[in-house]
Formats: sequence, C-alpha cells, structure tokens
Amino acid sequence: VSEAAAQALTGVFAPLFSAYPDGLLVVDADGSVRLANPQAGHLLGYAPAQLVGMKIEALVPTRLRERHAGLRERFTHAPSARPMGTQAELSALRSDGSEVMVEIALSPLQHEGHTLIVAALRGIGEYPRVKQAMRRGRYGEAMAELATTAALCNEEEELVRAAAACACSALQAPSCLVHLFEPSDRRLRLAGGQGLAPDEHAGSVWPQTQPLPASGPGRLVVPMRDGTHTMGFVDVRWAQTSTPGPEGADEDRFLQSLAGLVAASLLRLRAQSQLAHAQRLESVGQLTGGIAHDFNNLLTVVLGNLQVLRERAACQGAGPEQAMLDAASRAAQRGAELTARLLAFSRRQVLRPRRIALDTMIGGLVSMLRRTLEAGIHIDSEVHAADGDEGLACRADEAQLESALLNLAINARDAMPEGGRLLFSARVATQFPPEWPVAQHGPAAPGDWVEVQVRDTGAGMSDAVRARAFEPFFTTKESGRGTGLGLATVYGFARQSGGMAHLESAPGAGTAVSLYLPRWREPAAFAAAPGEVDKLPQGLKILLVEDDADVRTVVQRQLQALGAQVHAVSDARGAWDAWTQAAEARSLPWDLVLSDIALGTGERGTALARRLRVAAPGLPVLLMTGYASGALDQATPWPVLRKPFDQASLRRALLDALNSRRA
Ligand SMILES: Nc1ncnc2c1ncn2[C@@H]1O[C@H](COP(=O)(O)OP(=O)(O)OP(=O)(O)O)[C@@H](O)[C@H]1O
Ligand SMILES: [Mg+2]
Repeated sequence: VSEAAAQALTGVFAPLFSAYPDGLLVVDADGSVRLANPQAGHLLGYAPAQLVGMKIEALVPTRLRERHAGLRERFTHAPSARPMGTQAELSALRSDGSEVMVEIALSPLQHEGHTLIVAALRGIGEYPRVKQAMRRGRYGEAMAELATTAALCNEEEELVRAAAACACSALQAPSCLVHLFEPSDRRLRLAGGQGLAPDEHAGSVWPQTQPLPASGPGRLVVPMRDGTHTMGFVDVRWAQTSTPGPEGADEDRFLQSLAGLVAASLLRLRAQSQLAHAQRLESVGQLTGGIAHDFNNLLTVVLGNLQVLRERAACQGAGPEQAMLDAASRAAQRGAELTARLLAFSRRQVLRPRRIALDTMIGGLVSMLRRTLEAGIHIDSEVHAADGDEGLACRADEAQLESALLNLAINARDAMPEGGRLLFSARVATQFPPEWPVAQHGPAAPGDWVEVQVRDTGAGMSDAVRARAFEPFFTTKESGRGTGLGLATVYGFARQSGGMAHLESAPGAGTAVSLYLPRWREPAAFAAAPGEVDKLPQGLKILLVEDDADVRTVVQRQLQALGAQVHAVSDARGAWDAWTQAAEARSLPWDLVLSDIALGTGERGTALARRLRVAAPGLPVLLMTGYASGALDQATPWPVLRKPFDQASLRRALLDALNSRRA
C-alpha cells in the first residue's frame, strides 16, 4: 500500500495516527490490514509495513481463529463501536509465535463508500493488576488440582511429592522442601520435595543444633499445623539471583492453604494406617484366641492324664516309662505356655488385677535381672511417685506385668549383644500415644494413668520392623530363637488391662516400650488376715461342675489325688439339683464348689456361683476356665483357675478359695 493510499486514508491526521499510544490497525471487509501504526508493529513484533496486507486472523492465536472469523463477519454486517474491556480475555499472536494479552476496541469507519474497521490494541500483560489476577488464577487452579490429588492419594510420600510440585509450579520456584516432625520422637525429618540440593536427602534428620526452617530473602517457610502443634514445614526457595523471592501476601496465603491441605491429608493418612494396623491386630487376635481356647482344653486332658499316670505305681521309679512320661509332660507344658501367650495376645487370659506398688515390683525385677543378664548390660530404674502419694501404684495382674517387663528386658538384651544400658522407669502418664485416641479410651482425668517404660540403648528397629513388631509371630530372630510372641503378649496384656502399649524406636537410637496402665491412688490394703489354712484338709468334699467329659475325668482324678471326695456333674442344672437335694436333707454336703465357667448350653459357671452365694453364703466357689470372656474381665468376686493347670496350681487355688471365704 502506497504512501499515497495511507495519506488518502489518514489525511491531515497522519502524524496523530503515528503518535497514538495504542496500536492502531485499519482492516477492510475481507479482513486484510490496510494500515498499521508503529505501536501496533511494536506490540505484535512486525515492522508496520509488514503488517499491511496481512490477514487479521494471522494475528489471532490458532485456537481462537475460527471464532474470530465468525465474529468479524457479523461485525462487518452490523458494525457498531465496541469499547475496550468488554471482552473477558483476548490475546494476540506475535511474529515470534508468542502471545500477548491485549484489550481491543473496535470502531467502524466509512471511507469512499466502504466500511472499514479501526481496531485499537493495548497490551496489558505487564499491568500489575492483570499480573496479580493471573497469579491468583494460577494459585487457585494449582490448589484445586492438589486437592484432587490429595484426596485420592494413599501414601505420605506421594502426597509430599505432589505438594512440592504444586508449590514449585504455582510459585515458579525451583525448589520446595517438606519437613515433617517424626510422630514418635519429634525429630524433624526431610520428608521429600522438588529441586533438592545435592546434599539434601529425603529421610535425613534436621540437625538439633540448627534453628528450625524460617522465611528469609528468597525463601518462604510456612508451618503445617494439627490444631495447636506443628506437624512440619513447607519450605519454598527461589534462586537467589533470578527472583526477588516471595512477592507478598498472595504467595503467603497460597502457601498457607497448601500447608493446611497437606496437614489435613497427612492426618487422614496417618489415622487410616493406624486404624488398619489396629484392625489387623484385632482380627489376628480373634483368630488366635479361638484356636488357643480349644487347644487349652486338649492340653488340660493331656497334662492331667500324664500327671495321673506318673503317679501310678507301674510308672514309678527310674524306668523308661517314667522318662517317656517326663518328656511328654515337658512337651505338653511347653504347648501350654505357648497357648497361654496366644491367649494373652488375644486378651483372653484370666487377669487378676490388684494393686501393684511399682517401686517394689520394679526393684525386685531389677535385682533379679542384675543377677541373670550379661554383665555388659547396665540396669537402672526410676520410679517417680507423685506428690502426696505413698508410692506410685497401678492396677494390673502382677504376675503378668512382671512377665511383660521380663519379655521387654529379654528383647533389650537381644538388641544389645555388645552390652548397653537398660532403664526401667515408671511415672504418672502425662502424654499419650497417638494411636490411642484420647476421645475413645483415654484418661477421664489427668493422672489416671501410669506409664511403665523399658528403654534400651540397643540396635533399634527399622520402620518396617517397628510397624509389625506387635504382631504375633513376627520376629527377626533366627528360627528357634524367637517365636515373635513377646511383644504381642505385652500388647494384649496392656490392652486387656484397659491400657495401651506403645513403641518408639529408630535404627541406632535404641528402643523404648511404654505400658500405660490404670493408676491406683488408694493406699495399700492391710496385709492378709492371720489364721489362713496352708494345708488342704483331707477328705474335702467337692462338687465338680465341668461339661467336657474328658476334662471332668481328669480334674476329678487330680482332686482325688489331693485327697478330696468328688461329686462330678456336667452342667449347672445337675449341680443345682444335687444342691437342692442336699438342702432338703438339711445337710451342707460340700465344702467347696469347683465349676468351669463356659458350661456349654445353659447356665454359665458365674451364674451358678451367684445363685449358690444366695443359697449358701460362705460356701467357697472356685471357677476354672481356659478362656476369659468379656464378662470375666470385669473381675469376678470368685477366684479363677486358669486351664490347663497341674496338681500344684490346683492345690494352691483350692487353698486360696478356702481362705477367701474366711477373709
Ligand atoms: N528392644 C528391641 N530392640 C530392637 N528390636 C526389637 C526390640 N524388641 C523387639 N524388637 C524386634 O521386634 C521383633 C518382635 O519382638 P517379639 O518380642 O515380639 O518377638 P521375638 O523377641 O522375636 O521372639 P519372642 O519374644 O517370642 O522370643 C523382634 O524379633 C525384633 O526384631
Ligand atoms: Mg521377644
């Protein structure tokens, strides 16, 4: 297009056309550029003369071209002025292929009988307001995307990776790190991130001596919170040279919401995995509990028969029969020990909770261990009594607590082959493990719980071992050395006692296992009354109630071997009938009732005992069971004998029952 043509179009306003601050294009009805001013050239990256003759669609990004052609068509047929700022988002295609954000105003222009269009273009990409709006849009989009990922993701690592990537891309930062406090020991650990420096590794622990991550030049750090306490930090860094760093409130707000979202998702993931873990322990517990119960009845029969046989004259002496019987008894005894541990894990052992003075108990255990454990293991104990207490005490089964602590001590010994320190401690619990949600089972009042802890300086456990350590049969020890039931029974015991067991351990950092048990605040009861019987009277008349015929026979024989006269029946009805007949004869024919608790169908041993207590107050009742159901956990007023038992325990239990009546 010649100078003359331009002159014809712009006339005396040619200098104004050139000097106008917006880009100006004059376009004809076909969509060809007829005239362009220098600002239009500058904005679009062409010399003004290059623009002339170009189709206007060539200046529109490809994705918008088709729509643009339609709009232009309509405009030419019904031209009307359209000011700037009326369309949401417009961009123009520059000569180098990049896009520039523009506002466009259109005005029709009549010239020599033709309709031309004047387009005024203003580049707005550099306007701070526009930049801010775009940034906010980007942040919003990034958050929405992260929220979707976070909702679907099942692993902490994946969540951390997605969060770091989101922060980097939205904030256009080269690096974003996520630091998390270890829930177990509150050490700050680098959980992962994007753009890690060569000396930064996921999993590394933040040095205690170094101050916690904080914002500074080229760095924005935002804490992740769970209610009041900090779970960790999101740490974004810009390269020192290229960007001035955090730009202001928008970035801060964005990172705050990101940290909030990550914290909430982390809590969900952790709660999920704890629940899954607890459920797994629960279902394994039910399974083992069922098996162990049946096994116990079998072992009662085996052990009882063996015992009776050993006392038979034919087997007395040093003959081979005696040795065979001894071997069989030992094996059966070992089986009984195993089943007892399984019952302990499945929370079905019979517990006899009473007041345990912790300093006495721990003191006794420590002096025993000092004599038995390797000399290289240094053993200490600390019992912190609360003010005004006469000594710290808890409510639990003493023998079981001792055996739990012994199990822990043996584990500690195994973890310290080169020696080390073993510390037993007890205190009023002030903190509770996260897997024990306070809302569900936690303390009704502060000071309700005692924490008994065994800590060692041994090898510690990897995350994988720690996660499974409480499972029954999980062991890392060579076969023959560990059954993997130690921690399982400790866990079951703590749970059945109404409390919790908790484990803290890291490779190289030793292990601490804590038992949370109900605290006992009242002072110790007076010592047992004098005048107790310690010998079983001969000819003791015993009513035996047991539904399993084999067990009945065996127990009857054992009682007879102890010099008792036995009347055996198979259920509560039989017992009651025998009882009423005797009562009608106005005699008290029995000195003691020994009854199984689970009596097949019909009344349970506990119900029978309750009725007898009304009918004959003062009649000693001894219950026996291979299994403690829920009802038994709420301690019965009667002594309970655990199956399987040998003659000695039977004798002791009978004595206890006789004495408890006198007390
Ligand atoms: N104090 C400890 N230090 C390091 N690792 C331990 C410690 N206590 C337990 N573990 C790990 O946990 C596993 C399970 O322990 P647990 O007491 O349940 O079984 P076990 O000791 O292997 O066998 P068992 O106690 O039945 O003889 C162990 O094999 C060991 O890997
Ligand atoms: Mg063990």
